[in-house]
Amino acid sequence: MNYAFCGKSGLQLPKISLGLWHNFGYIDNFEEAKNMILYAFEHGVTHIDIANNYGPPPGSAESNFGKILKENLASHRDEMIISSKAGYLMWDGPYGDGGSRKYLMASLDQSLKRTGLEYFDIFYSHRYDSNTPVEETMQALIDMVKQGKALYVGLSNYPADKAREAMTYLNAQHVPSLIYQGKYSMFNRQPEEEILPVTKEFGSGFIAFSPLAQGVLTDKYLNGIPEHSRAADTTGFLRKEQVTEELVGKVRKLNEIARQREQTMAEMAVAWSLRDERVTSVIVGTRNVTQLQENLNSLKNLSFTQEELMLIDNILDGATL
Ligand SMILES: NC(=O)c1ccc[n+]([C@@H]2O[C@H](COP(=O)([O-])OP(=O)(O)OC[C@H]3O[C@@H](n4cnc5c(N)ncnc54)[C@H](OP(=O)(O)O)[C@@H]3O)[C@@H](O)[C@H]2O)c1
Repeated sequence: MNYAFCGKSGLQLPKISLGLWHNFGYIDNFEEAKNMILYAFEHGVTHIDIANNYGPPPGSAESNFGKILKENLASHRDEMIISSKAGYLMWDGPYGDGGSRKYLMASLDQSLKRTGLEYFDIFYSHRYDSNTPVEETMQALIDMVKQGKALYVGLSNYPADKAREAMTYLNAQHVPSLIYQGKYSMFNRQPEEEILPVTKEFGSGFIAFSPLAQGVLTDKYLNGIPEHSRAADTTGFLRKEQVTEELVGKVRKLNEIARQREQTMAEMAVAWSLRDERVTSVIVGTRNVTQLQENLNSLKNLSFTQEELMLIDNILDGATL
């Protein structure tokens, strides 16, 4: 595994992290979830990304992870970076969603309980909430660190101008933003112009989520929508209609470049997301160990020629998902 320092901090993260958004809930195969986590750890994936609402049902990815950790990796806690988040709807009423201090503090305690952890390495505000002053949300994050329940704090899905406000506040209180988590892939290049200059300016790391565009940047949709795929699953966040012929046509062309690089489409997509030095790590989500193995293989070739990058840019031509 290759590791990189997270922004200006002294914390190193693996170039590939594992996310538990899909495939780790109570509805999923527990043995497969366990195998993926153990395989990841054995191969240097020291960073596991979770959130309060991952499942389904919400909370169950944290509970499953807690069980796997306790039964298999308890003695390795100090070798792992475990993150969680709060920000999206988690429970009924006015205190189970958003960015209020009330919600974040309660959610952190619930997440610690479900995972059985004493602290999270990173705790994120999962989204910007326009109904809560940024100062209130940031102060809650700072106080989590002061209480010893989080070692570092991070932001996710904040518009660039709000991230700037938040990072300014955090810096002034000497609890800088360790990391920003944003959607970034060949099919979503917005961060290049918007948030990446901000993270660079503030010395924050950046971690990309959905580097495979939820699976579209692999060869799996080249011949239609397979039965066991996120687009076919009713519980997933990728809808069939999003897998358009136009996007699949682009993946077909990208796949040719991947072949010439002696990589699979998935391997090239992961490598491409890591080509920018401002990107500390990418978080892959996998359905099974085979997919994880393939994604880790991308580390064997992370460099691109200028010609390859130009060809890729021409194919992408602003396509978004
Ligand atoms: N902060 C946020 O708001 C936010 C939002 C989204 C995600 N995240 C984080 O980022 C993580 C990753 O997101 P993601 O799951 O969307 O990432 P992704 O890596 O873009 O997509 C993962 C999906 O792609 C398919 N896949 C993965 N490897 C493959 C391979 N080698 N060959 C074929 N298909 C493959 C699988 O789908 P199939 O099920 O179709 O096989 C897998 O479930 C999440 O788990 C979470 O931790 C954070």
